[in-house]
Amino acid sequence: MILHDQGVFRLDTDHTTYVLRITQFSHLEHVYYGRRLPEGEDLSVLAHRNSIMTGTSVMYDESDETYCLDNLCLEWSGIGMGDYRMSPCEIVMPGGAYGCDFLYQDHSIVEGTPQMQTLPSSSSLSESQTLVLSLRDRTLDVRVELYYAVYEACDVITRRCVVINGEDKTLSLRRIMSMSIDMPDRNFSLVTFDGGWIKEGNRHDRALAPGIYINSSTTGWSSNRHNAGFILRADDTTEDRGDAYGFNLIYSGNHYGAVELSNHSLVRVQLGINPHCFDYLLNTGNRFETPEAIMTFSGDGLNRMSQQFHDFVNRHVVRGEWKERGRPVLTNNWEATFFRFNHPKLMATARRAKKLGVELFVLDDGWFKGRDDDTAGLGDYAVNKRKLPFGLAGLSRRIHRMGMMFGLWFEPEMVNRNSDLFRAHPEYCLTTPGRAPALSRNQLVLNLCLPAVREYIVENVGRILDECSVDYVKWDCNRHISDAFSPSLDSQGEFFHRYIIGLYEVLDRIFTPRPHILFESCSGGGGRFDPGMLYYMPQTWCSDNTDPVDRLKIQYGTSLCLPIASMGSHVQAARNAGRVTSLAYRADIAMAGTFGYELDPTKLSADELDDIKDINEQFRAWQPLIQQGDFYRLLSPFDSSQYVAWMFVSPDKSEALVQCFTVLAEPNRWDLRVYPRGLDPDALYEVEDWAVELHGDTIMHAGLRLQMFGWDFMSRNLYLKRV
Ligand code: GLA
Repeated sequence: MILHDQGVFRLDTDHTTYVLRITQFSHLEHVYYGRRLPEGEDLSVLAHRNSIMTGTSVMYDESDETYCLDNLCLEWSGIGMGDYRMSPCEIVMPGGAYGCDFLYQDHSIVEGTPQMQTLPSSSSLSESQTLVLSLRDRTLDVRVELYYAVYEACDVITRRCVVINGEDKTLSLRRIMSMSIDMPDRNFSLVTFDGGWIKEGNRHDRALAPGIYINSSTTGWSSNRHNAGFILRADDTTEDRGDAYGFNLIYSGNHYGAVELSNHSLVRVQLGINPHCFDYLLNTGNRFETPEAIMTFSGDGLNRMSQQFHDFVNRHVVRGEWKERGRPVLTNNWEATFFRFNHPKLMATARRAKKLGVELFVLDDGWFKGRDDDTAGLGDYAVNKRKLPFGLAGLSRRIHRMGMMFGLWFEPEMVNRNSDLFRAHPEYCLTTPGRAPALSRNQLVLNLCLPAVREYIVENVGRILDECSVDYVKWDCNRHISDAFSPSLDSQGEFFHRYIIGLYEVLDRIFTPRPHILFESCSGGGGRFDPGMLYYMPQTWCSDNTDPVDRLKIQYGTSLCLPIASMGSHVQAARNAGRVTSLAYRADIAMAGTFGYELDPTKLSADELDDIKDINEQFRAWQPLIQQGDFYRLLSPFDSSQYVAWMFVSPDKSEALVQCFTVLAEPNRWDLRVYPRGLDPDALYEVEDWAVELHGDTIMHAGLRLQMFGWDFMSRNLYLKRV
């Protein structure tokens, strides 16, 4: 709910309150963000009170010697008016100066979330309300609109901004954040999720110190190096207790999250497009939309904060027919065959998988003409007739006849030099004039700023999807951007953003007419795992690393800011990682996500085949709980190298699944006590396998002692059902 009273705006969600106000000089002051406050109080008294300025500070206006912008908590700031913290905007104004000072003009409150023209955004018709604050520069007709969409039930507020150029000269936007917020410091720690290829989502915590910490990406995508999602937590916050602020961005390009601790002990948090190589020209009368930033606060620890993120992304970002539908158990041939497959091999794999209860067969890389390794064929949509004499349509027909769904891999944004597309259109790929473009995995990036390239992708991918009745698509993107240049642009500073807008246009044109297809995004694993991609594709391949031990960290870390239902996780073959683990262990970890296999089912032993049948049945029984339940992290792989535990609780608390894993077992320790969370305290639960009934409260406070934790790489599932 959004309330306005005498220049004070109060935004309430079920459990949080956000307050801002208009100051005597018309700046927007941030007053409060945190736990929900009682109603009916004059919250303007919480605003900051400056004392008379001393020292080197700059006075905003001679008439008030206590008004200093540098010492205020602000919702937005300009440049050159005495606020020396990082500004949310750097605009070369008409006349060439950077100085700008944005003052409140008016506001409106609308039902729902206004949609953007160029970028994906969260949506809801009836579950959100939006406050739009219009600011204008003190002297020039340059306006900024700040949007605050309030999602009450999810305890989420999103923020974005629009810049409008009303001057008769072009503006140059060098930096324009989606949000900026200042809060008093409370010994905050910053939590980020970092890594790289095959090691995504590693959690890092550090206490804030004076200065600026930047969590950003320059790869062209949201990146596997630093995920856009980050957290600010009070120093005593744990999974179950304490204050935590979560931030994420509905955007798949270069992001920039920055946290500054100022000399006045104020913390400024910003999130938006990375200003790196950014210079966007805004002509007279035009608008620039920033991506939408997600903010959520929990006063009850990190678990609750993650659940709010999960609910929000699942309900208001993910769209389409697969949004709430149970995802099929799949088998993907990549780790089973790599490029070495043919029609009979694929059919044998599919037949075996079908018998095991697998529902979707996915053909991965290697089906393009000439693509027997990664040096050739990317960009060409003709089928490799030697491997697939009946074509893709023939294969798809046969898979469908077996009663399975058919899925296909694409990497539409890339091209090999050894391809018909490159020979015909070398100008389609990214090249810096006068330089040879840099290769990665033998491939170059297509220039999605060019309409002809977008057309080529939409036409070819669309044709194959229709001709071959494809039910599932894995949309891959296996390298970072280099040679960022497009001859179509007046300012190369627009390149990275325009590429992403081009990509979103392509995705819209392919997906919107085909809502029945389940799409999964991938970028060498989690190189582009962000809410922007989840708007088009409800799931993302978490990592090319399918080793279960490594996956504990990858999935655990990813779960802080992104939903379990969006995490692609599959069972690998026994010896794929050079570490031998049991099928049960691999499967139990893969179940905490969308579930499937990356192995050759024709090479499994009779025992393994029997086990896989049971595993698939088990997964299907638990799937609604896993996909829609509340996720609780219990024991962290980042705290101990020994034991990891997490659990799922159904929304009505009628059932729960606790999963525990040993990494390296402790000598002479044969059991593990875990303390489940989120149960109905007064309800009786039957602990399956134990044949006992205990109250939720008893289970949560006394914990459950699990046997058989004396060996490395063990897993235990404990299913609880309300009696
Ligand atoms: C990437 C993906 C893999 C697989 C290969 C194919 O690495 O992440 O799952 O699709 O490409 O080349």
